[in-house]
Amino acid sequence: MRLEGKIAVITGGAMGNGLGITKVFLQNGADVIILDYADTLQDTIKELKKEYPKVTGYQVDIRQKEQVNQIAKDIQKNKGHIDILVNNAGVAKLSTFLEMSDEIRDYHFDINIKGTWNVTKAFLPLMLENHYGRIINLSSVTGPMVADPGEVAYATTKAALVGFTKALAREVVEHQITVNAIMPGYIMTPMVEKIAKETDEENPENVIKGIASGIPMNRLGTIEELGYLALFLASDESSYITGQGFVIDGGSTLPETKSVGV
Ligand SMILES: NC(=O)c1ccc[n+]([C@@H]2O[C@H](COP(=O)([O-])OP(=O)(O)OC[C@H]3O[C@@H](n4cnc5c(N)ncnc54)[C@H](O)[C@@H]3O)[C@@H](O)[C@H]2O)c1
Repeated sequence: MRLEGKIAVITGGAMGNGLGITKVFLQNGADVIILDYADTLQDTIKELKKEYPKVTGYQVDIRQKEQVNQIAKDIQKNKGHIDILVNNAGVAKLSTFLEMSDEIRDYHFDINIKGTWNVTKAFLPLMLENHYGRIINLSSVTGPMVADPGEVAYATTKAALVGFTKALAREVVEHQITVNAIMPGYIMTPMVEKIAKETDEENPENVIKGIASGIPMNRLGTIEELGYLALFLASDESSYITGQGFVIDGGSTLPETKSVGV
């Protein structure tokens, strides 16, 4: 039980990567509080509670700063502090740069950057008081390392989270709080299913096959595999690591060419 006695806040835990992280943290003994705006949040919690009673949640949009602050106050009153914050909630909507409306740009900036900012600002004081913390931000290989057409807004926000991770890590290091980023390649989640459907409404499974064929492991990652990386970064064992980004991508960023090789 690597997280026994630890209190974790996970944004976007109702599905996808956030749900994978939530499950792995619960399996390892943590109390998990999910912040998510999905209507399915309470159903997810009800299902998880059958096996893990230590899961709760708040239905909230992380763009709503005042509501996020109120939740942090509520948790401070009930629990006193938190140990782990996973900034996982994020969105992606593909559009070419010239066709992308300011609304779609801001949708990414407001959730992926400002939402992460709001949540971190609200919850960091609950770590400072305790002189302990693990903050994990979901960046991506998209932006800091690679990109496909249509991803300018998304990539911009995910690269921004690497800067956010490093700068915040430097500021809080003296309080025994570490801040690291996870940079996933393709993980099989509702976000990826939606992108596949938007790319080819008739045959979204062909889009998924196409993604898998570009990955040396020939498959997308699972939400549990992502959860295990988050578990390490959330645990006491990662105490000497801060300000870093960790790629988990089945080798998708490895190939140098498509034609050279024996
Ligand atoms: N799936 C991938 O291949 C992949 C790759 C790289 C990075 N990521 C990152 O992982 C994170 C999770 O992605 P996913 O694929 O699981 O997405 P998903 O769409 O499957 O799930 C995202 C969750 O976040 C919640 N959410 C979104 N906006 C929110 C908001 N404003 N307030 C509260 N909750 C909100 C959603 O309701 C949902 O439960 C994102 O930050 C994404 O950028 C995903």
